[in-house]
Amino acid sequence: KKISDSQIETLIFAHRGSSGTHPENTMVAFQEAFHVGANGIELDVHLTKDGEVVVIHDEKVDRTTNGTGFVHEKTLNELKQLDAGGWYSNYLKGETIPTLNEVLEWISDKKLLLNIELKNDILQYEGLEEKVIQLVHIHGLSTSVIISSFNHYSLVKVKQLDKEIEIAVLTYDILYQPWKYVKSIGASALHCNKSFAFSNMISQAQQQIPIRVYTINDELEMKQILLKGLSALITDFPKKAIQLKSTLLK
Ligand code: G3P
Ligand code: MG
Repeated sequence: KKISDSQIETLIFAHRGSSGTHPENTMVAFQEAFHVGANGIELDVHLTKDGEVVVIHDEKVDRTTNGTGFVHEKTLNELKQLDAGGWYSNYLKGETIPTLNEVLEWISDKKLLLNIELKNDILQYEGLEEKVIQLVHIHGLSTSVIISSFNHYSLVKVKQLDKEIEIAVLTYDILYQPWKYVKSIGASALHCNKSFAFSNMISQAQQQIPIRVYTINDELEMKQILLKGLSALITDFPKKAIQLKSTLLK
């Protein structure tokens, strides 16, 4: 069945960049997402020992670099010595852990949304919210940034510090009438996992608030999400999602 353009409004967000094809949370993964035409990028941030905001998923560097140990026990200089691409492919050796500042600088002249996920649900990082907000403002990006976290206390703090910046509730759980909770903490959207997106509660929820679903990599699931018209689909394979979206529009 052919559907008209206006019926698919689902934006494609590249999860940790184009992390299905490039090493996650590195500049090459973000560049690839931009190159294939993603609408937005999702990335994860932690604080270093010397208080710099860096882009990496785990609390430790072990899985995605050639180093070992906690991000918060290393200085930025120490982290910058690590290789963040070689674990993924020999060809991409030499990638480093980006700072949030570097990503914001790169994105500032591009038409790309940026979802910054504060990774402070396991470890708490003193001052992370203030630092992220300050960086976003330095680059004049407060209208194209969405801040999310599994730590909802942190989201409330972000909102208290900056009323303008968009916050989004990130959850694994199936919440009852999540729009009420989302609105009650000053958030404007729900970032949910696929069990909620594929549940029969989704249609009521999407009428109330924008719903962005993570992490959809399977083509059939992508198609279902696109046809439901959720606000965004967060995927490791943005190119595949964009191609599928254009096929559905033909
Ligand atoms: O922000 C959506 C998604 O990134 C949350 O899970 O573990 O991939 O950061 P995770
Ligand atoms: Mg994330």
